[in-house]
Amino acid sequence: MSQTERLPRMRTYLMCPPDHFTVDYVINPWMDVTVPVDAGLAGKQWTLLRDTLVDLGHTVHVLDARPGLPDMVYAANGAFSVDGTVYGARFRYPQRTDEAEAHRLFYTADTWSYASPVHVNEGEGDFAYLPGAYGGMILAGYGFRTDPAAHAEAQEVLGRPVVSLRLVDPAFYHLDTALAALDDRHVAYFPEAFSPASQRVLAQLFPDAVLADRADAEAFALNLVSDGRHVILNTEATAFGAKVRDAGYSPVHVDLGELKRGGGSVKCVVAELRR
Ligand code: ARG
Repeated sequence: MSQTERLPRMRTYLMCPPDHFTVDYVINPWMDVTVPVDAGLAGKQWTLLRDTLVDLGHTVHVLDARPGLPDMVYAANGAFSVDGTVYGARFRYPQRTDEAEAHRLFYTADTWSYASPVHVNEGEGDFAYLPGAYGGMILAGYGFRTDPAAHAEAQEVLGRPVVSLRLVDPAFYHLDTALAALDDRHVAYFPEAFSPASQRVLAQLFPDAVLADRADAEAFALNLVSDGRHVILNTEATAFGAKVRDAGYSPVHVDLGELKRGGGSVKCVVAELRR
């Protein structure tokens, strides 16, 4: 890949602290109720991630955690916004249902145009936006959480083309565990997380993608947040950090080991607010 200079763009994010974080139920293969979670450590790791984003010049809004919603720390799942319009979430599992309302109240208290969804979808967990690809393109995952009907619904709400990608490996149950936007136009992904046909679609759209291998994906390397230059990713993902460095980005590693117990890492806990 060419060594063009990678320029950061200032972002606005939404995060929710792990104040009530536990692993009390199992809705993905990473969750294990028999291993206790260290909530204090989770809180320290979360704070360090927030401070890292702020130190890079980004704005981070905080949504208050609610008791009884242990997965609410994974703020990326609460909605998906593009150019001031918000497509709300509707969770697959009843344990997370009430999170959608907390996110809805955040947006409707402000000047966002909020659309309530009919179909099951888990926000930025299964939707990614590339503002610089084809004038603005949405990539959407299905197979485990988001209903494919939500892809068409998102296209109608947001007025951007949505490309549906089928996820096939339960370890990578959300799109954001298997694919990430590195900047406005470029992605990184783990091919085997997708069906053969979806792999072809990705290869056709993104011939210059940074490809991850299984070890990278299992280290939650693709669950990254990028501002176009700085790629914030899990400390475990050192090999993949070198790959994005080779592609001209600057990896910034943060330890989110405790939050991995719930099946998520950097991207899962950070929603981007796109005005
Ligand atoms: N325990 C949560 C779930 O299974 C983790 C969500 C991770 N979030 C994400 N954006 N991948 O729903």
